[in-house]
Order: sequence, then structure tokens, then C-alpha cells
Amino acid sequence: MAIIFEKKEKVAYITINRPEALNALDLQTVKELSQALMEFRDDDGLWAGIITGAGDKAFSAGADLKTLVPFMGEIKDKPWQVPPTILRGLELWKPLIAAINGLTLGGGLELALACDLRIASENALLGTPEVGLGVLPGWGGTQRLPRVISRCKAAEILLLGMPIDAQEAYRIGLVNKVVPAAQVMEVAEQWASQLCRVGPLAARAIKEAMSRGVEFTLEHGLKLEWELEMGLFGTEDMQEGIKSFAEKRRPKFQGK
Ligand code: CAA
Repeated sequence: MAIIFEKKEKVAYITINRPEALNALDLQTVKELSQALMEFRDDDGLWAGIITGAGDKAFSAGADLKTLVPFMGEIKDKPWQVPPTILRGLELWKPLIAAINGLTLGGGLELALACDLRIASENALLGTPEVGLGVLPGWGGTQRLPRVISRCKAAEILLLGMPIDAQEAYRIGLVNKVVPAAQVMEVAEQWASQLCRVGPLAARAIKEAMSRGVEFTLEHGLKLEWELEMGLFGTEDMQEGIKSFAEKRRPKFQGK
């Protein structure tokens, strides 16, 4: 299995499982990643997801340069032959955490960028070396990176193609937190647990509002936010949230 997909209570664990190739993403891995993400999206019992890489060296060294990159060149008129993922083509509003356990390059960084929260190990290196290979970061790198960090730093990373370390990634706002390697999953699980305590429908609406709204004018963004807010009104979760406040207890959300 190129992707290990596990469910523990309300959390989905997606592990890229090609440590011998630094978890590079070949076509089979992308297919399995696509299936895992769709199962996560469609399973009402899953509220948060963690994506990580197997082993202790890499989150992912990006698209497989030996097989997938040449294949993408061959099928350039039929891009649908690469299955949809959060990198491109798959909308998924449930929150995702990237547990960055080492090298995170090219498509690996692009995958982490398509997650909502990023926790990096102290030894992580992050970057987009594609420019040095004569290609561009074509899984959203040129679009998501300047939306996550400043255009100035994005241009430096994308154009120079040199990786940055975890502390630099934290300083420029590319990752949320840096922890010793042994604690990456522990912190990711703590954050996933917190995501399973808050209102799941609200969390999804926030993600959708942030993700889609960034493309909109403020006026349209505020309209989208209001529509999503109105969608939450009347849900059982909202009633439970308000009731729990009045009753001075923790809410028990159902995702309904
Ligand atoms: N594709 C395929 N295999 C890869 C790979 C990749 N992206 N990255 C590493 N591997 C393989 C290596 O070929 C090697 O396998 P073999 O032992 O069979 O030769 C194994 O993983 C271990 O790698 P190294 O021996 O190279 O390990 P290292 O510690 O000396 O170097 C590294 C690590 C600097 C990350 C180096 O492996 C490297 O430069 N990898 C390529 C990183 C890269 O350029 N990623 C961008 C890919 S393009 C992309 O992602 C495009 C896109 O946006 C869609």
C-alpha cells in the first residue's frame, strides 16, 4: 500500500508509505491518496485528518521524478488521468493537518500547503526545487505559496529553488509550529482532538469561507460568509452550542 489510511475515532490518518523513495508521489500513490481523501470527505464519522509521511526522513520529496513527472508530460492533453486530490480537483472542507516529519519538497510542500495547519519537525527542510529541474511546482505551489506567505518570500522560495529550514518556515508563517521530530504526531493528534471538540459543521464552514473567500472581493466574501453562517443557523450543533453555554457545560456536537 502506497497510502496507509486509518481511522481512529473521529480522526483520519493518511500516511504516504514509500519511505524507500522519501515518500515521493508516484501515480499509484496519487490514486490511493485520492481514494483516501474521498473516503475521509464522505465518512460522516470523520471530522479531522492528519497527513504524514512514513519513516523518519521525509514527509514527501514530491512528485516521483522517475515515473510520474515523465508520465505527466506524456498525458498533458488528458490531465484527468491523474486522479483528483486536494492538490488539484478535489474540494474538501474538513480540516486537515500536515504532520511534516522531515524533507518536504516540491509536491510534498504543495501537499502540505493544501492542508490547513502545518506542524514541522525541527529537522524539516521545505522547498520547491522544481525550477532547478526545468519545471514549475505544478501542484498548486505557484498559487498557494504566495497566498499563504508573503509574495516576497514566495518568490524567493519558488524562483531560487533552495530549501529553507523549519525555523525559517515558522518565521515566515509557512508552518504553524516547530517541535522535536518525536513530538510531531503527538502535537498533530492534540490539534486533531481539538478539531473534534469544536463544532464540525462550523469548522468546515470556516474552511470553505477562507478557501473560497480569498478569491473574492471583500463584498462577495462577506456575502459568502453570511450564507455559510445562515447554513449553520438551525443546525442541531448550533442549538447544542448555545445550550451548552447557558448550561455551563461542554457542548456535545454531532455534526448535524
Ligand atoms: N522522485 C523519485 N525518487 C525520489 C525522489 C523523487 N522526487 N526523491 C528521492 N527519491 C529517491 C531517490 O532516487 C533514492 O532512491 P534510490 O536509492 O533508488 O536511488 C531515494 O529516494 C533516496 O534519495 P537520495 O538517495 O537522493 O537521498 P539523499 O538524502 O541523498 O537526498 C534529496 C535527498 C535532496 C531530497 C534528493 O533525493 C532529491 O533531490 N530528491 C528530489 C526532490 C525534488 O526535486 N522534488 C521535486 C519533484 S518534482 C515535483 O514535485 C513536481 C510537481 O510539483 C508536480
